[in-house]
Amino acid sequence: MRISVQEAIDNLQKGQVIAIPTETVYGLAASLACPDAIKQIFALKNRPPANPLIIHVSDLSQLIPLAANFPPHFHALAQAFWPGPLTMILPIQPDRVDSHVRAGLETAGFRMPHHPLALKVLEATGPLVMPSANLSGRPSATEPAHVEADFGITFPVLDGGSCSKGLESTILYFRSPEWIILRLGALGPEAFQSVLGYQPLIQTKETLQSQPLCPGQLFRHYAPKAKLLLGDSSRMSQADCILGFSERQYPASQKQWMMGSLACPEEVAKNLYRLLRQLDQEHIQVAWIDMDFPKQGIWLTIAERLQRAGEPR
Ligand code: TXA
Ligand code: MG
Repeated sequence: MRISVQEAIDNLQKGQVIAIPTETVYGLAASLACPDAIKQIFALKNRPPANPLIIHVSDLSQLIPLAANFPPHFHALAQAFWPGPLTMILPIQPDRVDSHVRAGLETAGFRMPHHPLALKVLEATGPLVMPSANLSGRPSATEPAHVEADFGITFPVLDGGSCSKGLESTILYFRSPEWIILRLGALGPEAFQSVLGYQPLIQTKETLQSQPLCPGQLFRHYAPKAKLLLGDSSRMSQADCILGFSERQYPASQKQWMMGSLACPEEVAKNLYRLLRQLDQEHIQVAWIDMDFPKQGIWLTIAERLQRAGEPR
C-alpha cells in the first residue's frame, strides 16, 4: 500500500514499521524511540538478533547525543560524504541506544541518507533504524514492488521510485590507527583516499572469520532461489539464463538479460537486485553470470554481492 510522506511520519510516530526509499536501497523503518517497533523489524524480516541495525539521521544534531566519542577524521568524512551512501560505526552511549538495535555491541552504525523523501521523514521523526527492506538473506529492495513482494501488497511503502544507487551504503569502522571497510557499498574504496590520505583496507571473509567485529556479517545475504554459476564459461551451457553486459555476445540459444554496460558500473549496480529478483519471479533454476569485469571502484561491490548471492546453501 503506497502512503504519503505525512502518513509515513504519522505511522512512525505511532510506533509502526513502514518502508521508505533511500538512494541506496529501500529501508524498513522504525523509530529509535519505539522498542516494540524495533523488535517487530527483526520479526518481519526474520532477521537474526545478532545482526545489528543502522541508525539513520537527517543531521548531525540527531547523532551527537547518541555517540560516546568520534574517531579521527569522523567530521571530515561526514562533511565529504553525508548526506550519502556512507555508514560509520561509532562507539555509543549504551543507555541511549536500545540494545536490540546494536545486538548488544557498544557501537552502532550511523548514516545520513541522501534521498529527499527519507530526509523529509527523518527531519520530522528523529532517528530511525533502517535495515534493507527485504526478507533476511534475500536480495535487497530497490523498488516499491520489491518491498511488496517480500512483505505483502498491504504493507505501507513510501514510494520514491527506483533507488538511484542500487547498492547498500559502504560501512567504515575505525580500528586504530585506521578506518577499515567493513562492507563494500555504493562508494568505492578509492573514494576515501582524498579525505583520509590512505585507502582503507577491505575486511575480507577470511579476516572476518578470524576476528568478526559483528557476528551478523557472516549471515547469508542477497541470494535468489536460483543457483548462480559465477564466471566459469565452461558451465554457461548448463544455465537457463545468462546475466551479461550489453557490449558482449553470448550463445543465442539462451535467455539473456543485460546487467548494463561495462562502461557504466553505476547502471549495473542499479539493475543488480532487480535482476536477481527477476530470476525467481520467472522461475529460473540456474543462471550464469558474466564476472569478467574490472576489479576496482563499485565493481568490487558488485562482485562481492554476486559472490555472496551465489554461495552454496
Ligand atoms: O544502504 C544501507 O545501508 C541500507 C539503507 C536502508 O540505509 N541499510 C542496510 O541495512 O543495508 P542492513 O541492515 O541491511 O545492513 C546493515 C549492516 C549489517 O550487515 C550489520 O551487520 C552492519 O550493518 N552493522 C550494523 N551495526 C553494526 C555495528 N555496530 N558493528 C558492525 N556492523 C554493524
Ligand atoms: Mg540488508
